Amino acid sequence: MNDPIPTVTFPGGASVPTIGLGTWMMGEDKSRMEAEIDAVRQALDLGITLIDTAEMYADGGSERIVGAALKDRRERAFLVSKVLPWNASFDGTIEACDRSLKRLGTDYLDLYLLHWRGEHPLADTVAALETLKASGKIRSWGVSNFDIDDMEELFELPDGKNCSVNQVLYNLSRRGIEFDLLPWCQERHIPVMAYSPIEQGRLLRHPELIHIANTYQATPAQIALAFLLDRDSVIPIPKTVSLNRLQENRDAVQLDITDEDFDRLDVAFPPPSRKVPLEML
Ligand SMILES: NC(=O)c1ccc[n+]([C@@H]2O[C@H](COP(=O)([O-])OP(=O)(O)OC[C@H]3O[C@@H](n4cnc5c(N)ncnc54)[C@H](OP(=O)(O)O)[C@@H]3O)[C@@H](O)[C@H]2O)c1
Repeated sequence: MNDPIPTVTFPGGASVPTIGLGTWMMGEDKSRMEAEIDAVRQALDLGITLIDTAEMYADGGSERIVGAALKDRRERAFLVSKVLPWNASFDGTIEACDRSLKRLGTDYLDLYLLHWRGEHPLADTVAALETLKASGKIRSWGVSNFDIDDMEELFELPDGKNCSVNQVLYNLSRRGIEFDLLPWCQERHIPVMAYSPIEQGRLLRHPELIHIANTYQATPAQIALAFLLDRDSVIPIPKTVSLNRLQENRDAVQLDITDEDFDRLDVAFPPPSRKVPLEML
């Protein structure tokens, strides 16, 4: 029996499970479509209801997979998509959202993110996001790949403080945000979605991670996820198409890492002692 997944509450009041499903690389290959649709459905059944996609992924292909998976169960998901920076003018954002909604087969997104900063004025993007919210096409909005100076600029704008989330690269081998960005967001009750939480698999060969995992009869991926899940208002969104790995990743919420083992992780993956510019993948 699975224990319920703890939740994180967004500034707008929506509660979401503290682990989500990433979908980058889904929708690239027709022969994998069925397995990908199954994985998204299985995630919902396991309580991993936050599904992260983007217009960029497989040029809309990932949104089509998610749309197919949610066809008869849209209301069970907390659906997140993203607008590309070069589409993020006022009109461009509204049009990109309409295209995403069409591919996803839904009339609303739970959360819509600016994928990263581009050449369009942030004020125009925010105004479009607020317009989409007022029309009911999105329920909330946020940003991605915003470092602290971007967040500060955003918060100076009219309605900028309505930002619900910042989605950034965060895992054991990329701990830079712990120096400033993570506490900044936490102080303002803005959850951080941790993308590439197992560093796209590269973390899993680390000898110390393997060693610690063995002591819990867990996997390195579970320890990497448990490390993030221990942080306040951090939502890792690992991507997997494997049904076994979905269960494995979900079970990471039940792991309790001891202080001693957190200290070991700090030695193997030192936290930052100074500002590290935000990294992106
Ligand atoms: N906002 C942004 O700029 C941005 C950038 C990157 C990613 N993202 C989002 O974050 C999500 C996650 O990041 P990511 O896809 O880059 O990397 P990730 O989740 O760290 O790693 C995904 C890779 O790890 C494998 N994997 C998953 N669980 C595993 C497990 N328990 N054991 C072993 N291998 C496992 C997956 O393979 P299988 O599928 O074969 O299991 C896949 O190859 C993306 O899918 C996307 O939604 C956002």
